[in-house]
Amino acid sequence: MYHISVMPSESSQYLVNNPRGTYVDCTFGGGGHTSYLLEKHKDIKIVAFDWDGDAFEQFKEKEKSFSGRAVFIRDNFKNIKAALAERAIGKVDGILADVGVSSKQFDDAERGFSFNSKVLDMRMDSRNPLTAKEIVNKYGEEEMADIFYKYGEERFSRQISEAIILRRKKGIINTALELQDIIRSVKRPEGKINPATKVFQALRIFVNGEIDNLETLLGDAPELLNPGGRIAVISFHSLEDRLVKQNFRKNASDNLYKILTKKVVTASEDEIRQNPRARSAKIRAAERTDV
Ligand SMILES: C[S@@+](CC[C@H](N)C(=O)[O-])C[C@H]1O[C@@H](n2cnc3c(N)ncnc32)[C@H](O)[C@@H]1O
Repeated sequence: MYHISVMPSESSQYLVNNPRGTYVDCTFGGGGHTSYLLEKHKDIKIVAFDWDGDAFEQFKEKEKSFSGRAVFIRDNFKNIKAALAERAIGKVDGILADVGVSSKQFDDAERGFSFNSKVLDMRMDSRNPLTAKEIVNKYGEEEMADIFYKYGEERFSRQISEAIILRRKKGIINTALELQDIIRSVKRPEGKINPATKVFQALRIFVNGEIDNLETLLGDAPELLNPGGRIAVISFHSLEDRLVKQNFRKNASDNLYKILTKKVVTASEDEIRQNPRARSAKIRAAERTDV
């Protein structure tokens, strides 16, 4: 299984306002949301983005079932404005972003996202040069601590960074497992949560420029949406959700958006039972006003 889509029905409900519109799925992944939307709304079209080659393979596998109503762009969604302009796609009727990694990426030991991986990589787009290994083996103590604190809200950021620098004296840190051991030497597990969780989150966000990507997308969205067009973002941690909330509020106060989710929307108990990953998911949606 490539990935189980989170809140497909809620996403569709908030996103689709024009039954003949063109929509952007910024994060195709396994294509679950795209497939759901095309199935549910027979006259819409979708422009799908994903920067991961595996997602592109997935698109090719499903392409026939899309009956010519979807195209794929292998690019960072941060480049949405230029990528749409290049293809002479003007404004669109909706933008969906289901940010973060897919289960396929997370579970693939070769990608280095999971705690027991035999590599330290964490790139969603293998064409990008920066890996987690480079950060852990080459960055300075303060620089690393700042990353762990800023993107992981890790309270032990300084101690962990110091322990990494010490461990480097014994040789290169090659695997996620080795990094996990260093973190465990500094920090005790709290309940069931792996003590390396926050550092791994921070490295992933930094390696992939996740905050910058989302900020750019949110910044460009108002000028890419038709009046009545919608944006829906599914996020999985507080840093992203805060960004989305603040961006929507600012655009609403500038009369560019009407916020559709006065209260953030989360997955039902039923969905969480079937897909525990949905537990931390939050949807926020807004509609472009007519100004
Ligand atoms: C949570 S998964 C999306 C799953 C998808 N909605 C589905 O139903 O199968 C996130 C996907 O977004 C992609 N992604 C994350 N950030 C991206 C970015 N900045 N540009 C393009 N793709 C990105 C990842 O490669 C991954 O495949």
